[in-house]
Amino acid sequence: MQTATLTIAAPYLIEQDYAAYCDDQHAVWAELVDRAYPQLERHAAREYLEGFEIIGLERDRLPSLKAISARLEPRTGWNATPVSGFLPAPAFFEMLAARRFPTTTWLRGRNSLEYTPEPDIFHDVFGHVPMHAHAVFADFLAQYGRVCASTQDQVLLEKLGRLFWYTVEFGLIRQGDEVKVYGSGLISSHGECMNVMSGHCAIHEFTLDEVVNTPVKVDEMHHLLFAINSFDQIYEAMHVAERHAAIGSL
Ligand SMILES: [Fe+2]
Repeated sequence: MQTATLTIAAPYLIEQDYAAYCDDQHAVWAELVDRAYPQLERHAAREYLEGFEIIGLERDRLPSLKAISARLEPRTGWNATPVSGFLPAPAFFEMLAARRFPTTTWLRGRNSLEYTPEPDIFHDVFGHVPMHAHAVFADFLAQYGRVCASTQDQVLLEKLGRLFWYTVEFGLIRQGDEVKVYGSGLISSHGECMNVMSGHCAIHEFTLDEVVNTPVKVDEMHHLLFAINSFDQIYEAMHVAERHAAIGSL
């Protein structure tokens, strides 16, 4: 079990009131999964699909964070921890470093199935948590949190934010002769995923240097994303980033 004590993030921790979800909310979850999953069977990285099974996500019911964490923690030490909403960066980094993924408990309504301005439980759990069952990705993400938590340098944090964006949120991976998605923003958005798969987005080979120097645009579909060849690559990149960060040269 995870024993690290959270201090900065403590005010944002809540309980998930699972019994409070109504039938209509479970039906919205089921609809979201039904829309996304057939596409993901074709386009998602195999590690995502394996993680989906490992954490025991159900297609027709909202996830209990306690239940999925009970399956996840023994494998990688990660836990999906309920939080009240968007976290300030220091609290977010503290939680990642402690392998506790800040997870919202609210679910989007039927009138915004494709997009929500702030993450909901569909984005956080369906989009993110399956990848936390993969040992190398899991270590990468905790290391990311540790490095970010240890600096106040805003230029460095902006560059590391781009690394997060182009991997955890919008990462691609080459598997066989195909490009697959593993980033949560692609997994949880039909439109973003199809934008990539229909060839409307350039795909560069992942390099730390290009990724940390490519600004993020949040208000339009992506024109450029980055593909890794294995998760070892982002794990190694994080260690390189840490060494550069230590001498202020990322
Ligand atoms: Fe996300």
